[in-house]
Amino acid sequence: MWFSGGVEVTPEQIRLVQASFDRLRPQGASIVSGFYCRFFELSPTLRPLFRTPLPAQELRLLEALSAVISMLSNLQMLLPELEALAKRHVTYGVSAAHYHAAGDALLWTLERHLGEAFTPAVRSSWIAAYATLSDIMIASAEYRAA
Ligand code: HEM
Repeated sequence: MWFSGGVEVTPEQIRLVQASFDRLRPQGASIVSGFYCRFFELSPTLRPLFRTPLPAQELRLLEALSAVISMLSNLQMLLPELEALAKRHVTYGVSAAHYHAAGDALLWTLERHLGEAFTPAVRSSWIAAYATLSDIMIASAEYRAA
């Protein structure tokens, strides 16, 4: 579900992701903290990979997400940063499968905060955008097939 298979995110999907993220921005801090809560609930074994105090980590994730979302229609420009980010994630102990777990926690968090605004079209737009981002990161991390 989380692999885009090279499918592009359409301009309309980009618009929906950006508009829903803008709507959530005022509650950004509580959203990323809710995301990590859910993530560690779903994947408790991943908690020890995180050494930075969570509030600082939450801020870093929020900044990274904001940058990626604002550049969704031009992700090529972020490729060098995303490749470096993906390679740092290998050193943190992150594997390809972990991107699926993070995607599930992200969808759950969005649904919870957007409520009725999380329409099927908004949901599939986030799925497409996250699949594209995780494809780039997984490819850049150069994981070998098991
Ligand atoms: C998919 C998009 C993701 C984005 C945009 C993202 C973003 C970030 C950022 C900005 C940092 C701060 C450190 C740095 O820049 O190197 C970070 C650290 C980290 N991320 Fe991610 N991440 C993603 C996915 C994941 C996934 C799937 C995992 C799975 C466990 C993960 C685990 C970690 C860990 C363990 C750290 C280090 C925390 C520490 O310093 O203690 N990330 N991430």
